[in-house]
Amino acid sequence: MCGIVGYIGNKTACPILIAGLTNLEYRGYDSAGISTIEKNVLSVLKDKGRVNNLKNLSEFNSLKGSVGIAHTRWATHGKPSSVNSHPHLDNSKTFSVVHNGIIENYNELKNFLTNKGFTFYSETDTEVIPNLISYYYQEFPNKNKDVSVFLSAVQKACKELIGSYAIEVISKDFPDYIIVAKKNSPLVIGKGVKENYIASDIPAILEYTKNFYFLEENEFAVISRNNVEFFDSSLNKISKDLKEISWDSNATDKNGFEDYMLKEIYEQPDSIRNTINSRLNENGEYDFSDLKLSKQYLKNINKIYILACGTAMHAGLAVKNTIEKLCNIITQVEVASEFRYRNPLVDSNTLCIFVSQSGETADTLAALNLSKEAGAKTIAITNVVGSSITRLADYSVFTHAGPEIAVASTKAYTCQVTLLNMLAIHLAETLGNCDRELINTLKLNVLSLPNKVQECLNSDDFIKDFASRIYTEKDVFFLGRGIDYTTALEASLKLKEISYIHSEAYPAGELKHGPIALIENGTTVVSIITDKTLTPKSISNTQEVITRGAKTLIITNEHLSNSNFDTIINIPEVHSFVSPILAIIPLQLLAYRISKNKNLDVDKPRNLAKSVTVE
Ligand code: AGP
Ligand code: GLU
Repeated sequence: MCGIVGYIGNKTACPILIAGLTNLEYRGYDSAGISTIEKNVLSVLKDKGRVNNLKNLSEFNSLKGSVGIAHTRWATHGKPSSVNSHPHLDNSKTFSVVHNGIIENYNELKNFLTNKGFTFYSETDTEVIPNLISYYYQEFPNKNKDVSVFLSAVQKACKELIGSYAIEVISKDFPDYIIVAKKNSPLVIGKGVKENYIASDIPAILEYTKNFYFLEENEFAVISRNNVEFFDSSLNKISKDLKEISWDSNATDKNGFEDYMLKEIYEQPDSIRNTINSRLNENGEYDFSDLKLSKQYLKNINKIYILACGTAMHAGLAVKNTIEKLCNIITQVEVASEFRYRNPLVDSNTLCIFVSQSGETADTLAALNLSKEAGAKTIAITNVVGSSITRLADYSVFTHAGPEIAVASTKAYTCQVTLLNMLAIHLAETLGNCDRELINTLKLNVLSLPNKVQECLNSDDFIKDFASRIYTEKDVFFLGRGIDYTTALEASLKLKEISYIHSEAYPAGELKHGPIALIENGTTVVSIITDKTLTPKSISNTQEVITRGAKTLIITNEHLSNSNFDTIINIPEVHSFVSPILAIIPLQLLAYRISKNKNLDVDKPRNLAKSVTVE
């Protein structure tokens, strides 16, 4: 959610900060701002609206200096406005702070500081941070203030903060340093040569460096041009390994596509191939040996939980039945934000799997903490190496989808479903009680996915035509039975997110129990039919809505010829366990084409953020 960038080096900071903020735009924001230091003078430039707006402000060209911090804000406390934008200064204008997250006790801290004579100018929770730092800084005698004093003041302030934060602090008294701290909000430090970078995520600064440090919760870093020093919450010095990230910096270009989302949809054959290859050994066998899940351990498992949010949760739903069928272990999929507040039955015999593209989603992280405390074994399925979820979970399995920039998740979903299917097969093989023929069929099906996804992309022209006829509609219904219902849920979420059309997903057989009352002449209904055992039922349910005037788009791998259907998209045949990976492709394209017809910002839909790091 929103973003942070920082630079300290010998180049002019401003253009680097603007480029970094632009790379972070996809995370969602409403305001932007920059602060730099030159010759002990702090400058601040900020406003509501887009990062590009900063360039139109009259002071933009006077922002000099080779040290700076920058921010895109996703307002939580106080409406988007110039005064509420970050950076925020303390009353003495000594410290400048940017902050991602929420300070839950800001009211108490504000009262405390107001009683000490501090004045507040914004409605934000953030403004308490620079003033608290300033308050503690005043405690030190004026002479011989070195950077350890700056660090102590930041640490004392952070000790008072309840909530979540990733902060960057610069000070006119220490013009050669940036101090950063984090708790439950993402922040990475990129190491360069005689220069260092800070960002909320890796892609933002991937064009400058591939070497990264990851801060853990409650840690601090003091960053200068040539050095990065780390400290724990009590300011004991700690050391950290530098990690090299293998992502290609070109992976964050649009590569000739109009939007990131379209590029990411079309990348799916390659990204799924990468997912599959990452878990095959040189003999072509599945290799999950790093998970160290023994047959004995799996036999004693009482249940598997898959915990996630949004699209990642839909990926979990798409494999629930597969795991139950192959492994004979009860598998529950839950929205992480609900799980954390309902005292779930988790113990040391529960296996909890956390699915998250970003690895930073606050609700998923909280569910992970809860499961660990209850003694469960935890596996992270994420796309981002070094993300918070991967650092907390017992084991991490990466999707290798490459950076996903568009807010609406596409390639991360298909890679998650692919990987979860492979994991299910691995668990079944370890348990040894599986149907060998089924396992072999599934393995062949998994290998065929990249080519079959490529074929599904050929539906784009039919989808364009259908989208151009329905983009002005107010409601769309998605129907499916069994595993197709999970695809319906994901397709409906995609449409809502980027086209702002109200849509509902229903198990096709459930419609007659109420929602069919909403179907009238011309209503668009999308029906997904890929499970042979349920095809006749699904067709009957679709016929029921056609009788009531619905216009239908059918996504199927069956040979259906029914002149009552408006449009049929044929997708390749595949075992129903992996069919969501194919069936979702035309529906991702449908959401995309409708959004384009409506002239909307596909990659940055309103109100949404790519990585939801607040509760
Ligand atoms: C996907 O299109 C959504 N923007 C959203 O539902 C997303 O999947 C959810 O916020 C979870 O994010 P994560 O995978 O990064 O944890
Ligand atoms: N809570 C802060 C604010 O509303 C920071 C929001 C953010 O993470 O951008 O200003």
